[in-house]
Amino acid sequence: MTEKRLAIIGGTGFASVGNLKVIREHSVDTPFGSCSSVLKTVELEGVEVIILFRHGSPHRIPPHKVNYLANIWALHEVGITHVIGVTAVGGISRTASPKKIIIPDQIIDYTYDRKHTFFEQDPQQVTHIDFTEPFCRELREVLLLMAAETGLDVLAGATYGVTQGPRLETAAEIRRMARDGCDVVGMTAMPEASLAREMGICYAVCSLSINWAAGCGSSKEMINLAEMEKTIEQEMVAVRQLLGASVRHLHLTS
Ligand code: HPA
Repeated sequence: MTEKRLAIIGGTGFASVGNLKVIREHSVDTPFGSCSSVLKTVELEGVEVIILFRHGSPHRIPPHKVNYLANIWALHEVGITHVIGVTAVGGISRTASPKKIIIPDQIIDYTYDRKHTFFEQDPQQVTHIDFTEPFCRELREVLLLMAAETGLDVLAGATYGVTQGPRLETAAEIRRMARDGCDVVGMTAMPEASLAREMGICYAVCSLSINWAAGCGSSKEMINLAEMEKTIEQEMVAVRQLLGASVRHLHLTS
């Protein structure tokens, strides 16, 4: 078995190491500019894991301004083989209600104007990656297995529609996304997932639904940002627990 080297990309609601012990910190220079944060090596469940904060620490970089190329390049540069991206999403399907943890298995990309490939510099190297399954099956299975073991009720499989942001969507946009087959909406899984695939990194997402997407709530009211924050604060504990169990499992099966 080859050694797995693990990283977590923390998203909204995951912008600090919390009470994890930081072993070391390093900044990596990349040909694409600066990463969102320094790479912090922490000890999680006795395993060394790198954490990178997608929106900076503290949170300051909006989804459309994240330097996804630098982030993935830096993780690859330091030898990371497996990445779990943590993302907050809005629920479109009834099964993706607020507070639910979701392990998506598909993506529809609605983003634009984001640098999204490592393969545009070199005209000699036209490379098409297979993206039939955008998330790494091995890593999704570990997340699902550990959710079952820790008694967490997660949604196993969902189509993640990725929007450009930073504004939230209109109700009509969400109705269109529902017709397209999206179960959840978020702003950050792309191009993170495809860049990780280009670099040969096994990448999966652990999403937390923090609101009903526009027009999906029962009273059709506007999205309440204070409620979203409250949900994040309460439910990130479960996400961190799932990450810890998954990291330990991945390490033991290295
Ligand atoms: N839309 C887009 N991104 C999000 C949402 C949403 O409703 N909730 C959390 N991230």
